[in-house]
Amino acid sequence: MSETNQKLEDMRLKAVQGGGHRRIESQHKKGKLTARERIDILVDEGSFEEWDMFVEHRAVDFGMNNKKILGDGVVTGVGKVNGRTVFIFSQDFTVFGGSLSESHAKKILKVMEKAVQVGAPIIGLNDSGGARIQEGVASLGGYADVFYQNVLASGVVPQISMIMGPCAGGAVYSPAMTDFIFMVKDTSYMYVTGPDVVKTVTHENVTHEELGGAITHSSKSGVADCVFDNDIDSLIQLRKLLSFLPLNNKSSPPSFDSIDPNDRIETSLDTLIPDNSNKPYDMKELILKVIDEEDFFEIGQNYAKNIIIGFARVGGESVGIIANQPMVLAGCLDIESSVKAARFVRFCDCFNIPLVTFVDVPGFMPGTEQEYGGIIKHGAKLLFAYAEATVPKITIITRKAYGGAYDVMSSKHIKGDLNYAWPSAEIAVMGAKGAVEIIFREDLDNPEKIQKRTKEYEDNFANPYKAASLGFIDDIIFPKDTRKYIFNGLKLLKTKNISGVWKKHSNIPL
Ligand code: HXC
Repeated sequence: MSETNQKLEDMRLKAVQGGGHRRIESQHKKGKLTARERIDILVDEGSFEEWDMFVEHRAVDFGMNNKKILGDGVVTGVGKVNGRTVFIFSQDFTVFGGSLSESHAKKILKVMEKAVQVGAPIIGLNDSGGARIQEGVASLGGYADVFYQNVLASGVVPQISMIMGPCAGGAVYSPAMTDFIFMVKDTSYMYVTGPDVVKTVTHENVTHEELGGAITHSSKSGVADCVFDNDIDSLIQLRKLLSFLPLNNKSSPPSFDSIDPNDRIETSLDTLIPDNSNKPYDMKELILKVIDEEDFFEIGQNYAKNIIIGFARVGGESVGIIANQPMVLAGCLDIESSVKAARFVRFCDCFNIPLVTFVDVPGFMPGTEQEYGGIIKHGAKLLFAYAEATVPKITIITRKAYGGAYDVMSSKHIKGDLNYAWPSAEIAVMGAKGAVEIIFREDLDNPEKIQKRTKEYEDNFANPYKAASLGFIDDIIFPKDTRKYIFNGLKLLKTKNISGVWKKHSNIPL
């Protein structure tokens, strides 16, 4: 090998050692992979091309001029996932704890900018102690530059954040502005400030896990969309998520051949709805029975379980599923479920993914907790998101569609394209009992009269025929045929094209 080539070889070898053998070992001991090992699992074999391997920080204070490590704590570049281009940055905790310096930020910005120009997703594998403390405000500036680029990229290319270690301070805000946040169980944390500062300021004693662990964020705060068991599982799941998404906002998601017949009749759905309309059933059963090969990529599985969201395919085409879950809080819409679903609807609309909505909703959750928390504004987010969405919207009402929640859940009135109801649907202002107790208050002490009135109300409204007679429902279908109707609808709506009035942007009730 020539001297010049040997020098390159040596430099590369040095760069891949990151923070050195001891720190790599320590990373492995914690059950974590290194930045480069993670990329190797994420991308198709041999497809990763690394950029800026020789970048170093420029800090001089606190003896930093003598502490330079090639790459400066982040591995960046471009690779392929299932043959499709993705831009990646993967923070290297073995180098200054993956903390973000000005140079580190510039490396991230370079791949983000190129991703937007080329039109390919940005994947961030985050493992960082936040702002590089030795660099002070230069590091804060670096973060702000990344945040700004997150905003520019939002709605242009999918941005996905995988949290794979401690992420503190600025390290959590860039992920917070991306489309999805995934976390790894036991080894990842996200918080604005760690337990020590919390103790000083609020006198709370809290562990890293309680404050910002994967379970906390996936079940309490809703910050994390999915949680996986370890680095390898997370990266494999990330590859899977990408298979449902287009590369950018001007392209369509990839379609796949499915062995599942498009007109598959699912007779068991005809008996899914219990006779007693107050009895729950599992909406997931319906989802799994109508999608291709029962393959459902659920988002937010442990948070706001009264609504189910996630990606699936019907006839090989990606769809975003939104479904009330009667098993949890009777499928009511509350603050958390409204926000969870609204954000998902907006993501799908940004990226040309049709929406399939299954409705069984008794209304918005009543009570002071909800009102004080702002259910009016948060519920409006979902209404706004559905109304704004221009992707194909197919809605199936399985049972209850009561009150405002009927309007919200992709109804005809907010431009649902195809709205179907099962024969078991009840489309009304509210349940018969509640309605009668209000409009026939004077008969409350006469159970016989009340029973008669309730029956009258049920006959009139606790069915889909009134709504169908008004044209609010396009058809009443047998449950067993649901998959066929969704497949045909998606095919029909593939060329849907509507344009709105010009505006700078809307003002969704944040
Ligand atoms: C420089 C850092 C660093 C940082 C960690 N290191 N965080 N170096 N700047 N922010 C270095 C450590 O000095 C150490 O170097 C190595 O990374 C590993 O750190 P450890 O503490 O040994 O690891 P661990 O015990 O696993 O703890 C990880 C940690 C902890 C929880 C992330 O290091 C920590 O609390 N760091 C500080 C977090 C923080 O407060 N960041 C600033 C947030 S303010 P050696 O040489 O020993 O390997 C912020 C503002 C931005 O980000 C706001 C923008 C909106």
